[in-house]
Amino acid sequence: MKITQNFTVNYHYEVLFTRGLFAPANPLLRDLLRKETNNKSIKLGVVIDTGLLDYQPDLIDKIKNYIANAPELTLVETPLIVLGGEPVKNETNELIKTLEFINNAKIDRHSFLIAIGGGAVLDMVGFAAAIGHRGIRHIRIPTTVLSQNDSGVGVKNSINFFDKKNFLGSFAPPYAVINDFEFLNTLTERDWRSGMSEAVKVALIKDAHFFNWIETNALALNQRDIVAMEKLIFDCAALHVAHISTNGDPFEMGSSRPLDFGHWAAHKLEQLTQFEVKHGEAVAIGLALDLAYAVQSKFIDLVTFDRIYQVLINLGFDLFHPLLLDAEGTSINPELIKGLEEFREHLGGVLTITMIEQIGAKFDVHSINIEQLNLAAIQLSQKKKLHAN
Ligand SMILES: NC(=O)c1ccc[n+]([C@@H]2O[C@H](COP(=O)([O-])OP(=O)(O)OC[C@H]3O[C@@H](n4cnc5c(N)ncnc54)[C@H](O)[C@@H]3O)[C@@H](O)[C@H]2O)c1
Ligand SMILES: [Zn+2]
Repeated sequence: MKITQNFTVNYHYEVLFTRGLFAPANPLLRDLLRKETNNKSIKLGVVIDTGLLDYQPDLIDKIKNYIANAPELTLVETPLIVLGGEPVKNETNELIKTLEFINNAKIDRHSFLIAIGGGAVLDMVGFAAAIGHRGIRHIRIPTTVLSQNDSGVGVKNSINFFDKKNFLGSFAPPYAVINDFEFLNTLTERDWRSGMSEAVKVALIKDAHFFNWIETNALALNQRDIVAMEKLIFDCAALHVAHISTNGDPFEMGSSRPLDFGHWAAHKLEQLTQFEVKHGEAVAIGLALDLAYAVQSKFIDLVTFDRIYQVLINLGFDLFHPLLLDAEGTSINPELIKGLEEFREHLGGVLTITMIEQIGAKFDVHSINIEQLNLAAIQLSQKKKLHAN
């Protein structure tokens, strides 16, 4: 005997772009929620990244003022402030605090939990929203380059656990994402830069034309040209969103994960440096390592490698970290190589690492030759020395 269950859930959400989201005259948030009001006021719980508040201390007043002038919206309690950066994903208490906030403020499945902050805060709050009451409607308001162009527009959320990155988490599409470019004005130089590696990543695997555009505009982007950054974010976000909806595996049941090109080493490097190296900075190094490996394996030629390397340098990235090598500095760090197995374990199934055969064209490999990886890491070290002189 058997009963076959089969149903489809259609997900739909918008990634909206604006400037000055909480300016009283900006209708975007009110318009977004209007269809949900049904002549009743909608309850909003807001969680904010403390690192953002340090730079934008008037944000809470702006939100309160915006909502006070929108009778269809009700702010439950005062916004909850959580740690910023990776500590919010490392310290489980931040998740518990957010769940308590949901409980105490009686945020139910017809309310909205809004997260405002960098990718780390969005990951943690998204997870709280996914598990509280088995799923609360969630709006993400990303405030860093990386969260606006990559992490905030997708369907994943998580916290770190058992000393492993993103060990606890879920796939839970948001209700909507709102990218307000004005938030970017206060980013530190490192956070302005770090998210751009994700744009290079997605261009390399999918879109040679976008890569050419980044190459032409790399120095302007490095020098904080906001118009160039807005285009980079929009195009990068669009490529990520399109990949999730069209690649046939939005919830990553398979073993191939092209958007994680360059990420096996990046995740390990973040962890080995106790997150001193930021995600986007680690991705730039991880890309450089996998591309140097692609040269060793003759997947790409040296001219292509040098071209991509120079774009990353022009964007301002440092493409070597001493922890890529062992204590003697003569071969690849054995701790880093553990990242390959952790990557495989996280995906399940066979090891699958994305490589490129030319700019804009990817393919998968299922094994990594450690001797060639060794040569790749040494090549990055030598190039760094060359650049330093
Ligand atoms: N869910 C996903 O699909 C996905 C994808 C990629 C990356 N990620 C995760 O995203 C995280 C990295 O995100 P990130 O690069 O945004 O860094 P982040 O969240 O660590 O933020 C960087 C710093 O900037 C501060 N900040 C935030 N907004 C600011 C602003 N407007 N002005 C000044 N400071 C501000 C934060 O407090 C923090 O100190 C990592 O945990 C990574 O694993 C998730
Ligand atoms: Zn990433």
